[in-house]
Amino acid sequence: MIIALIDRIIDLVLYECNRYIALMAIWTPNLDGRRGPKYLQIVEAMAEDIASQRLTEGARLPPHRILAYQLGISANTTSRAYGEAVKRALLRGEVGRGTFVRSSDADPTAGVPGDLRRETRGPIDLSRNLPLPGFAEPHIRRVLGEISQDKCIPALLDYQTNKDLSHHIEAGRIWLNGCDVEARADQIVPTMGGQHGLLCTLMALLRPGDLLLTETLTYTPVCAMAERLGLHTATIAMDADGVVPEDFAELCARARPKAFYLTPTLQAPTTVTLSCQRRKAIAQIAERQNVILIEDDVFAPLKADRPAPIACLAPEHTVYVTSLSKAVAPGLRVGFLYAPARLLPALRHTVNLSVWMTPPMTMEVAARLISDGTAAQLAIQQRVAAERRQSLAGSILADVEFAADPQGFHLWIPLPKDWRADTFRAQCASHGVLVNEGRSFAPRAVDAPEAVRVCLSHEADETRVERGLRTLVNLIRLPPSLSAIEL
Ligand SMILES: Cc1ncc(COP(=O)(O)O)c(C=O)c1O
Repeated sequence: MIIALIDRIIDLVLYECNRYIALMAIWTPNLDGRRGPKYLQIVEAMAEDIASQRLTEGARLPPHRILAYQLGISANTTSRAYGEAVKRALLRGEVGRGTFVRSSDADPTAGVPGDLRRETRGPIDLSRNLPLPGFAEPHIRRVLGEISQDKCIPALLDYQTNKDLSHHIEAGRIWLNGCDVEARADQIVPTMGGQHGLLCTLMALLRPGDLLLTETLTYTPVCAMAERLGLHTATIAMDADGVVPEDFAELCARARPKAFYLTPTLQAPTTVTLSCQRRKAIAQIAERQNVILIEDDVFAPLKADRPAPIACLAPEHTVYVTSLSKAVAPGLRVGFLYAPARLLPALRHTVNLSVWMTPPMTMEVAARLISDGTAAQLAIQQRVAAERRQSLAGSILADVEFAADPQGFHLWIPLPKDWRADTFRAQCASHGVLVNEGRSFAPRAVDAPEAVRVCLSHEADETRVERGLRTLVNLIRLPPSLSAIEL
């Protein structure tokens, strides 16, 4: 009786598998001629199929049990293959939804920047939050000329000690002062930009298994770093005024996080600058709960009237991250961390481990631009240019609901009811305009809003920005079903 029942169940399962396979025309790897462990053969075949686009970005893979049945192997083997493919960044799993081929576009953990050149033809790129081009170039030419005539060159070509770099540290102090952080020279750690600063901070201060909190919508390369470092992540709720301190307090009580990464000024994507009150509340919670705040303030130099950094409110619990990328030039790769004395040895050690020292030559360029006031002037120029583009956007998007800061580089546009963000992004792309969908900023797919981020600063030519915005507005006004027509 029991055996008959088991036979019946097996029949049913096989019947369902066959039905699924017939219905879905599922992907099956070609393992002919491959050697080595079966699970690695599957991963190799998968990588080849992704490269040849037989498996396209975002494609859903069959459940591993179905694939196992199809290949006549154990489900453990296919499960191991999928696990390995996730590790190799070929696939990503979404709880309750399945396993998908990674897409570098909308996948927040892909963390790989695409082509950053500023084209004057082809698609209009409103997807990159970079400073407007051109302002820094003449100053950098001038400074390079000065350096080329200077007797400091041999020293810049050598390994440096922290003592040798004292005028670079002094430049860091001036830069941090400009960010409203009254910095002590001995608490400054030079980095190769904000991204490097963030990675060094996570590597220095967190261990595999530690919990890192982020905002619900965030700068997702940090989530990719967390994944690589074996950290757990959880998100803190946001409302129209940014991250919600009560939710931070609640998570601290419940989950004992080690650190909270946040972007309080000109937040990407929401554009919000966190109020003074919320900053204070977050600082107090971090002190009470002994949580490290990683305050990513790379956009702060663009905003004139901003509240004091959290680093000033909870100085013993905050690592402040800044860089010259958004106000001067991202290609310089210069940034600074400012941290309490107790965290400095670990931070310095990870900078040493990762790059030994920040390149003295680019640091020298940056230090001269900072010390003679050029860098601060360039930040103001970016701010003014951003204001002009924001006002252009405001006039074109007059009857569209969106969030923006007059001095920010980007807009955040919640889409009308019938639009899905992925469809809208695809429609924009098919009409020659590139934007980011909400999913790009959401560590958890369930939090991805039906909204897009539109950046105004990457394109050098303002008429292209205008054209891009007009295309976008025309699309938003159409129901999705009509959006495929020529505009
Ligand atoms: C919020 C945020 N943090 C950090 C970075 C990295 O900055 P950097 O170019 O200085 O590495 C970026 C770059 O886009 C960013 O948007």
